[in-house]
Amino acid sequence: MARKFYITTAIDYPNDRPHVGTAYEKIAADVIARHRRMRGDDVLFLMGNDEHSQKVVRAARDRDLEPLEWCDRLAACFREAWAALDVVPDDFIRTTEPRHRLAVERILTACRDRGDLYEAEYEGLYCAGCEAFKREDDLAEGRCPDHPTRELERLRERNWFFRLTRYSDALRRHFAAEPGFVRPETRRNELLALLDLGLQDISVTRPATGWGIPVPFDPRSVVYVWFDALVNYLSGAGWPSDPERFERYWPADLHVVGKDITRFHAILWPAMLLSAGLELPKCVFGHGWVTVRDARMSKSEGNVLDPVALAVRFGPDAIRYYLMSEAVFGRDLEFDTGRIVARANADLANGLGNLLSRTVSMVAKYRDGRLPAPKGASAVREAVGTAAAAWTEALETWDLQGGIAAANTVVARANTLVEERAPWALAKDPSRSDLLDATLYDLAEATRLSLLMLHPYMPRRTAEATARLGLDPAAALGTDHLDWGALRPGTSLAQGPPLFPRIEESPAP
Ligand code: MSP
Repeated sequence: MARKFYITTAIDYPNDRPHVGTAYEKIAADVIARHRRMRGDDVLFLMGNDEHSQKVVRAARDRDLEPLEWCDRLAACFREAWAALDVVPDDFIRTTEPRHRLAVERILTACRDRGDLYEAEYEGLYCAGCEAFKREDDLAEGRCPDHPTRELERLRERNWFFRLTRYSDALRRHFAAEPGFVRPETRRNELLALLDLGLQDISVTRPATGWGIPVPFDPRSVVYVWFDALVNYLSGAGWPSDPERFERYWPADLHVVGKDITRFHAILWPAMLLSAGLELPKCVFGHGWVTVRDARMSKSEGNVLDPVALAVRFGPDAIRYYLMSEAVFGRDLEFDTGRIVARANADLANGLGNLLSRTVSMVAKYRDGRLPAPKGASAVREAVGTAAAAWTEALETWDLQGGIAAANTVVARANTLVEERAPWALAKDPSRSDLLDATLYDLAEATRLSLLMLHPYMPRRTAEATARLGLDPAAALGTDHLDWGALRPGTSLAQGPPLFPRIEESPAP
C-alpha cells in the first residue's frame, strides 16, 4: 500500500499579493510534495490563506471593500500566482470557509472542556505584523525585531487564555523523544532555549469587532488569529467534517514554515493538539528568509518582488531552480536577480540543456535518431548510481540544495564523457562503432536520470525533455525508474528547440 504523506505550508495573510519570500516556501514544499508523488506516496499537499487577520481588514478598508470581498479577490490572485510558479497543492484552504470554522469551534470547546481555558484581563504590547503580544525581552530597542518599521500597540483586553504553561513538561519530553520534531537543528536549539526560558499562558481570543470566528461559548469574543490559523492543518485534512480523510492523512508529516513562525508551530500548536487529545505532527521545518541587503523581504520593509513577473521573464523553472539551489534549505537566501541569470546560463543552458541537445543531435546524426543498444560496460553507470542514492537521501532529509547538487554531478559527468570520448571522432572510425554506441547510450541514460532527479524542481522543462527521449513523462518520472537502463535501445529521440535558451538580457532588477 502506498505510504501517505501529508505536507503543509504556512497559510498566507492576504493583505497583499504574494512576493518572492512567501513564494520561496511554497516552491520548497511543492518540490518535496512532487518528490513524494514520484515515489508513489499518497500525498496531501495543503496550502491556503489566513484571512482573519487585522492586516487583512485594513487592506480591505483602504480599498473600500468588505473584508470577505477583498479575501475572495486575493484568494484568486494567490491561486493564479501559485499556478504560474507550477506550485500545485492538492487543496487550498481559506479560514473563512465553514469547514474551517467548524474545526476551530470544535478545538476551542475541546480545550475548554479539558480545563485549559480561563478568562483574564491582559495588558501588553501587540505587534500587528506578527499578530502577537510581545514580551519586554522579545523587543529590540522597544520594537519587534521582525517588524522594526511598525509601531507596537499597547492593548488592554479581557480575553480567554490557554494554559500553555501546563504543557511545558510534555513539550520538553516530546522534543527529547523526537529529535526530528523540529528541523533544522539550529531551529530546534532556538526552541529548546525558549522552553528553558519558561512559557507563559497565551491569550487566544480578542474582543469581537465583526471579523473573525466567534467564540462559541462567548459571543463577545472572536478567536485569536493564530489559534484560528493553526487549525487549518486539521480542517484541511478533514477534521471534523470528513473523518475518513482525516484518518487517512493525520498526523501531518511535515509543516514547512518560516523561521519567524516556527515557535507557534512547535510550541503552541502541539500544546493545542495535546489539549484536544489529537496526535502531534511528525516534523516542523523552519526555513530561512529570502532577504534583500540582509533584511527580510516583506511588504512592511517595502522591498518585495513579484514572483509572477519573474516567472514571466525567466520561466518558472529557472526561478524555482535558483531559489532551491542558491542556499541551504533552512538558511537565509540573499536575493539577486543576476544570480538567476548566472545559474540559468551555467547550470541549465550550458549544463543540462546542452547535454540533452548534444545527446539527441548525435543520436540523430550518427544513428538516424534511434538509440543504439550499448555493447560493453558503461563508463558512468556507477557514478550515476551513487548520485541517485545521494539524491534520494537528500530529498528524504529535506536537503533540497543537496538534491540539485546530486543531479548536477550526473550532468557534469556526462558532459565530461562527451569531451573524453569525442563521439565525432569515433563516428569516423567503423572499428570503434561499439564504443560510439556505448557512449551514446550512456549519454542518453545520464540525461534521462538527471531529468528525473531535477523533475521535482523544474517540473515543466524536465517533463518536456523526457518526452523528447521517447518516454511518457507521466509514467517515466517515478522513483521506480531511478535504476540504470530504463531507456530501450531502438527508441526514437526527438530533436527540438533549446530546452533552456541562454538568457542574454542584463540582470537589472
Ligand atoms: N498567516 C501566518 C501563518 C499562519 S500558519 C498557521 C503568516 N503569514 S505570512 O503571510 O506573514 O507568511 C507566510 C509564510 O511566508 C510564513 O511561513 C513566513 O515565514 C513566510 N515568509 C514571509 N516572508 C518571507 C521571506 N522573506 N522569506 C521566506 N519566507 C517568508 O505568517
